[in-house]
Amino acid sequence: MKLVDNKATLTFSNGSPSVDLPVYAGNIGPDVIDIRKLYAQTGMFTYDPGFLSTASCQSAITYIDGDKGELLYRGYPIEQLATHCDYLDVCYLLLKGELPDETQRTDFHKLVTNHTMVNEQMQFFLRGFRRDAHPMAVLTGLVGGLSAFYHDSTDINNPQHREISAIRLIAKMPTLVAMAYKYGVGQPYMYPRNELSYAGNFLRMMFGVPCEDYKVNPVLERALDRIFILHADHEQNASTSTVRLCGSSGTNPFAAIAAGVACLWGPAHGGANEACLNMLEDIQRNGGVAKVGEFMEKVKDKNSGVKLMGFGHRVYKNYDPRAKLMQETCNEVLEELGLGNDPLFKLAKELEKIALEDDYFVQRKLYPNVDFYSGIVQRAIGIPVNLFTGIFALARTVGWIAQLNEMISDPEYKIGRPRQLFTGSVRRDVPAAARK
Ligand code: CMC
Repeated sequence: MKLVDNKATLTFSNGSPSVDLPVYAGNIGPDVIDIRKLYAQTGMFTYDPGFLSTASCQSAITYIDGDKGELLYRGYPIEQLATHCDYLDVCYLLLKGELPDETQRTDFHKLVTNHTMVNEQMQFFLRGFRRDAHPMAVLTGLVGGLSAFYHDSTDINNPQHREISAIRLIAKMPTLVAMAYKYGVGQPYMYPRNELSYAGNFLRMMFGVPCEDYKVNPVLERALDRIFILHADHEQNASTSTVRLCGSSGTNPFAAIAAGVACLWGPAHGGANEACLNMLEDIQRNGGVAKVGEFMEKVKDKNSGVKLMGFGHRVYKNYDPRAKLMQETCNEVLEELGLGNDPLFKLAKELEKIALEDDYFVQRKLYPNVDFYSGIVQRAIGIPVNLFTGIFALARTVGWIAQLNEMISDPEYKIGRPRQLFTGSVRRDVPAAARK
């Protein structure tokens, strides 16, 4: 970051001396006011719950321009990456900063492929869960559990440990997600097949059975790969910030990523794709397209507590570029599977049309986000609704790792420790009646 020839001056109406604060510029995006010395200089904290105006770190990985609807990974537009690269290329890019050349590509694919199996003992760990456990509960446990299986890569301050844990996590996530699914449906686990692509291997581990050959459908393979690319990173969102905060204590990389999985589960974040599909199915059950108007009235009524899931974003206030790409993929998959007349897709289109024209949504700049379409694609592929967020976690793992590594390598890195505005009781004595 560069110090700019501009400083911010904070003045107080009570006559306290004013304070000059340095301003830094990044390469694009808003400048930041450096308030690190504010407390020492004024005895005051800043107050920004929800981080509406706070940059929590400097980062060179992902850039979002919410007004333009632009998403860049290491400078490359998401549209170009989703069209010309595969997910493992994008993983390499996010981790290393550059796209791989041919040799680097081959080596990286080979390296990830060599780590796709999980310790056989993980199966017994999985067996402790109820069969009807939510896959995100299972995944939170399994990912955290990796730290108990791979003792040789748990030192977050050791670059080699970080490197090997990164590869292990990227390679093993599809295996773990598929195992969580197979366990739930009571089918045998499918071991990974290393001659298949990352997405193809995942499809086989999900939908293959040992008694039959499984042929990967290239359209579905490409669709899944695109889902992975679109979800790979998204700068300092809730789960990424969770991973950074968790990792800032020096905990091991598997534990930090498990914290990200737990955060992602929430319906305001990664859980939105599951919540969106449940919402569509709910409307469908209660009258379908004919009832869309009634449903939208509820969404607009603040007292109803109903939200249009898959709409709105903290940063994108124009459109979510991932949603556009996902919509394309959605059309391809539905056509390939002969589901062009899928009533849920028609319903989604109707909801989108109304929302895009309705004043409530227009004024608040609420547009479809990636989850609006990704649920429909995943459902068409055969992925059960409660596994959608698990797929998101699989794809986001590389982003979490890249951000974690960036933080640890930053010379300004410190344990994350926010402060507070205390509104509880001031000091008081335990009353005599309560004393023993
Ligand atoms: N349906 C109805 N109203 C909405 C919605 C929605 N989906 N999203 C925001 N609003 C309203 C909100 O009630 C508020 O209205 P008012 O100004 O009258 O009080 C206004 O729009 C601004 O919303 P906000 O809650 O202040 O916005 P935020 O930046 O805090 O929240 C959000 C962003 C994503 C949590 C929210 O839009 C939401 O809950 N959307 C539905 C869940 C969803 O699809 N989440 C996935 C996000 S994309 C995937 C990811 O990155 O994880």
